[in-house]
This record gives sequence, C-alpha cells and structure tokens, in this order.
Amino acid sequence: MTPPPIIAPSILASDFSRLAEEVRRIEGAADWAHVDVMDNHFVPNLTIGLPVVQSLRKATVIPFDVHLMITDPERWAPGYAEAGAYNVTFHAEASEDPVALAKTLRAAGAKAGLAIDRDTPVEPYLELLPYFDTVLIMTIKAGFGGQSFMPELLGKVRDVRRRVQVGDLDVRIEVDGGIAADTIEQAAEAGADAFVAGTAVYGAADPAEAVRKLRALAANRMGT
Ligand code: DX5
Ligand code: ZN
Repeated sequence: MTPPPIIAPSILASDFSRLAEEVRRIEGAADWAHVDVMDNHFVPNLTIGLPVVQSLRKATVIPFDVHLMITDPERWAPGYAEAGAYNVTFHAEASEDPVALAKTLRAAGAKAGLAIDRDTPVEPYLELLPYFDTVLIMTIKAGFGGQSFMPELLGKVRDVRRRVQVGDLDVRIEVDGGIAADTIEQAAEAGADAFVAGTAVYGAADPAEAVRKLRALAANRMGT
C-alpha cells in the first residue's frame, strides 16, 4: 500500500522576522515544516542555525524536517536531533561516514535523512538506504530557494524508488527544489512521496490552501 504524500513547506521562503507565525500558518495542513540550515561553507548562502530551531521548536507542534546544508555534519547534526527535530537530513557530499551518523541521529531520537545534491550520482549510496528513514533528492543545486525545477534529476528518484521496492525498505523519498503545482506530479510519478515546497507555499496568498492543492496533485499521481 502506498503511504499518503508528505508535504513539507520550506520556511526559507517565509518571513524570517515572523518565523513562529509563519510556521503556524501551515499547521494542520502540512505534515512537516522543512528547515533549511545553510552555513556559508557547504553552500554560499547563510540562513539559520540551532538556536533558532530550538526556539521555534517551542512555538509550534508541527514536526521539523531539518535539511542541513553544512560541512562537518558529524559535529552539528546530533544537536538538531536533541532539539527535537523529527527528521534530520545531512548531505552525502559532506559526510565521511553517513551510516555512522545515521545511527547517531536515530539513537538521539530522530529519523535520519541522506541528501543527494544536483551533481552527485545516487548509485554509490543505494546500498546505504537500509540505514536511513528518508532520502532527499535535490531537484535543483542546493543553496537557494526560488530556483527552477530540473526534471532531468528525477532519474535519481526512479533509481531510489526501484531499490526501495526491491528491498521492501521503509524509506521516504523526498524531493526538494522548484516543487510547485506544475512540477509535483512529475516528481510523484517518478516515485517521490515527500515534497518540499518553499516559494509555492509561502509565495501563495493562502499557504495552507497551497499545501492542500499540492497534496491533492501528488496523491492523485501516487495512487493514494
Ligand atoms: C534550497 C533548499 C530548498 C528551498 C526550496 O537549497 O534546500 O528547501 O527552500 O525552495 P523552492 O521550493 O522555492 O525551490
Ligand atoms: Zn531544503
């Protein structure tokens, strides 16, 4: 049976001066709030870090899907699990021992996620899937919101879906970058079942309504 889609609005596209309110606008409609942590090293951009996540955690009930675009995740990722993040995703390109870090995150009470950036092939990581709860396939180059969706990256989603099916694995396949009403169906068709959307949700007049619309489009293609 196909599980229902996860819709995870990225607060990167929200008003940072009102983060708590912005997260509450999607409560009840979205499954997770996607939190993009960028460190100005792994990616050129700089966003928010652990103190903000700790404060925000107290302001909402929605589970946090933390996407760490940082170097040295071994040092920083466990802190996000301890801060109560539901899922902590780090980049394959940044980690020396992804399986060890996944185990650490799970031991700290979080789900573990592995992110694959635009220029990274997914094949070398397929054998690591049993150690993860989510795999995040970037559908842009990580670093900035508001970029155009790259359909040519969906081949990686298909590869992961195949491996998840063959191994009967309990792994969510998440896509991130340029997901909107005109792209989410292609991603769902390729096998994604968790969808990050920044601009498409927070750029809408009614973010909760935008989430419901995206969910309906995805569910339709996933056959749920
Ligand atoms: C970019 C981030 C994304 C970003 C997506 O590196 O990982 O989560 O917020 O934004 P949109 O949906 O606008 O492409
Ligand atoms: Zn992200």
